[in-house]
Amino acid sequence: MIEVKIDGQRVAVAAGTTILAAARRLGLEIPTLCHHEALEPFGACRLCLVALDEGGRQSIVAACNYPLERSGLSVETGTPAVWQARKMSLKLLLARCPGVKVLQDLARQWRVDTADLLLTGDGEEECILCGLCVRVCREVIGKNAISFVYRGAERKVSTPFDAETDLCLGCAACAYLCPTGAIKVREEAGRLLIDRWHSDLEQALCSECGRPVVPAELLVQMREKAAEEGVPGEELLCLRCRRMRAAAAATALPVPQYGPADSFPARRSSREEPDVNQARKGK
Ligand code: SF4
Ligand code: FES
Repeated sequence: MIEVKIDGQRVAVAAGTTILAAARRLGLEIPTLCHHEALEPFGACRLCLVALDEGGRQSIVAACNYPLERSGLSVETGTPAVWQARKMSLKLLLARCPGVKVLQDLARQWRVDTADLLLTGDGEEECILCGLCVRVCREVIGKNAISFVYRGAERKVSTPFDAETDLCLGCAACAYLCPTGAIKVREEAGRLLIDRWHSDLEQALCSECGRPVVPAELLVQMREKAAEEGVPGEELLCLRCRRMRAAAAATALPVPQYGPADSFPARRSSREEPDVNQARKGK
């Protein structure tokens, strides 16, 4: 274990713990946009900047991917210099994606003056290049269907050759984690479409009503994984049919005994057997 100081508070952590994790252990808040606990740190958004003092040598570093390796380090999370650096990072993100709500909200909250913003794109871009989609696809789903391509102003996340790829299962984990809403998942004529990745996927149908439920290939892989883990495969039902089945099962229970329509019934003790026959006769 090593001991470091964050905002004047001492904390003991295992060597290699990031500044962000150590700060959170103390209940300190550091803004983040490209960080997710389940994924490898990436350090893309630079909103988590903090001031680090290493024996008198001072620097501004990204808290999410800076590992604390030795005792005696000191971190400040809210100095004027730190806030100035974070606001600059936010302005750079806004220059690329001026219409993104999460950035606009932060700009308002942090009182960032955006009057002098110089757009670096067409003003329509919604991807801030945080890499959450790339990391979740690679690290959690294990597919690598998308990755960063090109450099500089051309940099973007894309599928191989910017074309439809059978690596994309349509799990939509990328859209779930995307902080800006840049990845739109929609259904059209029973198919699942993710335009940003050129994905157009056949869906497996509910065995009861025939509605599309889940991308077919994703279902195959889920069932294979379940089989490997010894979990028996379940019949495929949509949410509505699942609810209907549950309701049908519930009606097989003893009929509840209700009082007059305008009075809420007193809860029946679980030991009292309801008089089903009397209730059915309307007595
Ligand atoms: S598409 Fe979304 S999750 Fe992926 S890099 Fe862009 S902003 Fe991040
Ligand atoms: S959260 Fe640390 S750089 Fe984005």
